[in-house]
Amino acid sequence: TEGGTPAAKRRAGERAAEEVEDGFVVGLGTGSTTASAIEAIGEAVADGLEVQGIPTSFQSRQLALEVGIQLTTLEAVETVDLAIDGADQIVDDPGSSAHGTLIKGGGAAHAREKLVDAAADRFVVVADPSKLTDRLERSVPLEVLPDAYTVVTARVHELGGEPTLREAKRKDGPVVTDNGNLVLDCEFGAIADPEELAATLSSVPGVVEHGLFVDLADATYVGLEEGTG
Ligand code: A5P
Repeated sequence: TEGGTPAAKRRAGERAAEEVEDGFVVGLGTGSTTASAIEAIGEAVADGLEVQGIPTSFQSRQLALEVGIQLTTLEAVETVDLAIDGADQIVDDPGSSAHGTLIKGGGAAHAREKLVDAAADRFVVVADPSKLTDRLERSVPLEVLPDAYTVVTARVHELGGEPTLREAKRKDGPVVTDNGNLVLDCEFGAIADPEELAATLSSVPGVVEHGLFVDLADATYVGLEEGTG
């Protein structure tokens, strides 16, 4: 959501958009890098490509409509051929079992993103190189039911995390997601075992979805000068 070079984001997004084939159903992720992919798909549509997009947020829906991508929904399709989505942190360590694990949700869209990305036959991550890391250490966003934020806060403390209710920048009070829920950003320091933390967080009542994406990504494009990584 912040930082990174616009050129790298654009190259990554455009590279991922090249994977879209005629007749595809495409999951449209959220954020500034995916926006480049959505724009590139829009250009291909203007040139005659036929695709249907499944947006993961109000933002991606709005952009898809603007660039002329026909929209559909998960319940209306049998397959999602490809999903393209950004990330806030990506483990880049081929020797590690956590390789390719992501933290998402910087834009509070991770619940629908995970739903669509996981449903896709192929999920491609687009990012600039600043997102790559040896191990995950950013805060993990939890989308929580509004009634649940105090009990989830207490549970996260018990798990050794430091939760903060995400505040809106241009409104008084909390961020409210596209699904009408709240977001707790939870600091766990360096995350030694993302898979275990993911399973633990998934088991907390009131947590709609967390931002750890384990074993979901099939490829990552980082928009390097000499290629796209
Ligand atoms: C949205 O909730 C996030 O998961 C985004 O995919 C993530 O923040 C990436 O955004 P940028 O491409 O703008 O960095």
